[in-house]
Amino acid sequence: MTQQRRVRKAVFPVAGLGTRFLPATKAIPKEMLTVVDKPVIQYVVDEARAAGIEHFIFVTGRNKAVIEDHFDIQVELYDTLRKRGKLDELGNLQAMQPKPGQTSFTRQQEPLGLGHAVWCARELVGDEPFALLLPDMVMQHDKGCLTGMVEQYHKVGGNVISVEEVPEEETHRYGVVGVGEDISEDGFRINAMVEKPPMGTAPSNYFINGRYILQPEIFSILETQETGAGNEIQITDAMLKLAEKQDFSGYRFRGNTFDCGSKEGFIRANVSFALKRDDIRVKVEDDLRRMLDTLL
Ligand code: UTP
Repeated sequence: MTQQRRVRKAVFPVAGLGTRFLPATKAIPKEMLTVVDKPVIQYVVDEARAAGIEHFIFVTGRNKAVIEDHFDIQVELYDTLRKRGKLDELGNLQAMQPKPGQTSFTRQQEPLGLGHAVWCARELVGDEPFALLLPDMVMQHDKGCLTGMVEQYHKVGGNVISVEEVPEEETHRYGVVGVGEDISEDGFRINAMVEKPPMGTAPSNYFINGRYILQPEIFSILETQETGAGNEIQITDAMLKLAEKQDFSGYRFRGNTFDCGSKEGFIRANVSFALKRDDIRVKVEDDLRRMLDTLL
């Protein structure tokens, strides 16, 4: 087996406008909305760190400076917590904090599409494989989604895309892959990729759920700045071109994914993560039962 180059860097595209979440996202980036007590972006950065990522690259836009502040040290706050003896709170903050030099921020300048946002990270990624995590998608699983993907990548190399099943009638809303031969319990060869296939034409019911491991050759394809669906520069189009030269495997993610860029997904995430928290579970569960009983 050939030794694969390690996946050390992750790209987080956070330059989208979040129009589905207006008016909340008028002044606050959607990535800073909180699920229980942590901003959405923190869940995704934690998932990347658990998978061994050492460098966190954020592609930001206007109004997103607060994301940079969130990942910085807050000297006054840390001092106050220390003075008040709130050492658990301080420890938690410090554990979430990337180390000096582990973060980079670049601006997309214009929201020309996800593919364009990824291309903006080309100089920071350089010539090595990298992870791409869509921060809207928050995953819930004992083993992080990216951790499973990195394990698969070390076995088979190439490019890895995480997928999940959706009911067939919903496939037209997503990027969908075609399923080839199995390569492991969770992995299979991808033999087709389609962005938002018209009803009844999807090659499978496995949709791309927002986690990718990509080889750096994707950047020279994105360089052409070709636009696709919605007149945006699409990552799926670039991956299709890359698939002519390189292998793509699918990783079946077996946890829960919440699309926190949509109102329903965000509320489901809050309920589900709250129900997994020892400190608030019982109270939240009681309240939810009572609310549902009143409705029925
Ligand atoms: P979305 O289409 O979900 O993001 O893009 P959006 O445009 O912010 O959301 P709506 O539809 O208006 O509510 C998926 C991911 O790609 C990023 C977004 O920030 C999100 O994480 N993205 C999208 C960019 O960084 N730049 C873009 O030009 C487009």
